[in-house]
Order: sequence, then structure tokens, then C-alpha cells
Amino acid sequence: MTILAIETSCDDTSVSIVTDNFKVLSQIVSSQNQIHSIFGGVVPEVASRAHLENISAVFHQAVRVADVKLSQIDGIAVTVGPGLAGSLLVGVSFAKGLSLSLKKPLLAVNHIEGHFYAPFIEHKIPYPFLALVASGGHTALYLIKGFRDYKLIGQTRDDAAGEAFDKVAKLLDLGYPGGVAIERFVGDFIGTIDLPRPLSNEDDFSFSGLKTAVANIVRKQVTLTEEFKKDIASSFQKTVVDILVEKTIKEALKKGIKEIVISGGVSANRLLRKNLSDAAYKHNLNIYIPSMKYCTDNAAMIGVVGLMLLQRGITAPATVSAIPDLTL
Ligand code: KG4
Ligand code: ZN
Repeated sequence: MTILAIETSCDDTSVSIVTDNFKVLSQIVSSQNQIHSIFGGVVPEVASRAHLENISAVFHQAVRVADVKLSQIDGIAVTVGPGLAGSLLVGVSFAKGLSLSLKKPLLAVNHIEGHFYAPFIEHKIPYPFLALVASGGHTALYLIKGFRDYKLIGQTRDDAAGEAFDKVAKLLDLGYPGGVAIERFVGDFIGTIDLPRPLSNEDDFSFSGLKTAVANIVRKQVTLTEEFKKDIASSFQKTVVDILVEKTIKEALKKGIKEIVISGGVSANRLLRKNLSDAAYKHNLNIYIPSMKYCTDNAAMIGVVGLMLLQRGITAPATVSAIPDLTL
């Protein structure tokens, strides 16, 4: 089976073609980072307009690179939520049009489900596994017992981890996306400033207090030296990484789960990848981390879920619509 998958939930326009065994034949991503960096964050109106301008070219390129005929496509997978309403709508409308013209079933995919199945592209992962999804819009830990058998263990009560990276980077004038900017700015330096770790004894996450603590420390500075900026940015990064690693490992040990998956934009963070891998090794746990291109938003992960849906005959009606607040 071969799936054409579309992802437009936020600010990346992506189309991918995925075939049996989750083999990715092509994946094209048109990033809007440059456009949104002027504003220090995603502007929904601007994002949906850019999707509209890009989607056709991204689609044609994905088909060309995969070297498949449209008649070989067995299903059209699309992210229906959660995400920005206008952005989702562009992808869903495009998918509906394709589904109608090619007479192929529509497969409705939850963006979060896409993230935690992204590691399936490169790894064989047995159930049950623990999935940490940390992105710009979400931070949550799930227990995945089987396909569509998920249990939410904990989630953020305020900001997502990536959102906190973006806000702290904006505060320090480091650029957008914040996670990438902070990581580049601090390099291998490990900060020395002690920052709060909210909800350290609970399953849920909270990053808003941490961001405010950084803002308060920054405000007290008479001048923002590069040295101080590096120290606070790095201390912030280390604190977020520590929180994510501690909660994930603690939960795996508590539940006796050996397999851990991480995904979402924040999982591209080198310190997180290293510290989580080290902690997993220490506790004899297996960690599966996608390559960078499958950490941030991408259509290949949507194709993986699309394939799982089509294999089970779970197709969506032609009336399917974008659901910005879709839950799992
Ligand atoms: O998964 P994603 O591409 O989109 C959402 O679904 O939100 O994640 C984007 C988020 C942004 O907040 C960005 O700052 C963060 O992921 N991010 C990172 C890194 N690369 C992207 N955070 C920390 N370190 C990185 N290297
Ligand atoms: Zn995402």
C-alpha cells in the first residue's frame, strides 16, 4: 500500500509518500520559519496564506521525487487536528480534492499520533511503549499499549516545552524557532543559574513558571552581556531537558516499561537526545529517537499513521473537517 500524506497543522507545509513497512519514498517540507521569524512566533493568518501558496508545488515535488504515478496511491492521509484552524483547513481541503479526483479513501490523522509514531520510520518498536511528545504546541507523556489504545500520563498545564523555548529566545533576542536559536547560541556550554522545576513530583508538566523566572532574572540585569545571556539561556535549556528526562525515566521505571519513544520539535535538541539516551542506558531501557527531519513537523509521520489506518480499513468520510482542538 502507498499513502500520500499531507501535514499543514502549523507553519510547515509538508507532503510525503510512504509505502509498505513505513518506507518513505519522498518527503518535502516547505518551512515558513523565515517569514515568522520577523514576528518571533507563528502568525496564524500568515501561516495559512503561505500554506495555500506552497501546497501545490510541495505536492508535485513529493510525487516527482517518489517517482510514483498518482494511480499507484492507495489513500490520502491528512492531519485534521490539533493545530491552527486556517492552516489545517488548507491541508484538509487539498486532501479532499485529491481523494475525490483520484477516487481514493481519505485517512484522518491526529497530529500528536503522527509525532509518536514518527520513530516507526526508522525503528521496529514493540508495544507497549512510553511516548514523550514535546513540541511547540504540546508536551505530554503517553502510554501506548497498541494502535489506538493510548493512556495520557501527564501533560503540560500551561506552556508547551517548545513554546517556552520560543518565548525565552524572544526575550533574549536570539531568533526563531527558539529551540534551534538557543541551542546554536549556547553550544556545549552548561549554564550555572539555578531555576525552578515546577510540578517536580507530579505527572503533569509546567513550563510557564520557568519562563517567568527567566524573565525576572533577565529584568534585574542592568546590562545584558553576551556572557550572561549564554549562562541564562543554557541554564534554561538544561532545566527543560532535566524535567523531560526525569519525568520520562521515572514513569518508565514506575510502570515497568522498557521502550521509550521521543518526538516533536523539542526532541531535535541535542542535549535532550544525549541526556535521555544516557539515562535510558543507565536504567537498561531502550530509547528510540527519530532523525532530525522526523522530529519537527513532517508529513512522513502522518503517512505512517495513514498506512496503519488503511491497513485496518479505518477511512474518513468525505465530510471530514479540520478540528483545531482535536484530542487523542
Ligand atoms: O513539532 P514542531 O515542529 O511543531 C509543533 O507541532 O509545534 O515543534 C516546533 C517546536 C518549536 O517550539 C521549536 O522551538 C522547538 O520545537 N524546537 C526545538 C529544537 N528544534 C525545534 N526545541 C529545542 N531544541 C531544538 N533543537
Ligand atoms: Zn508537531
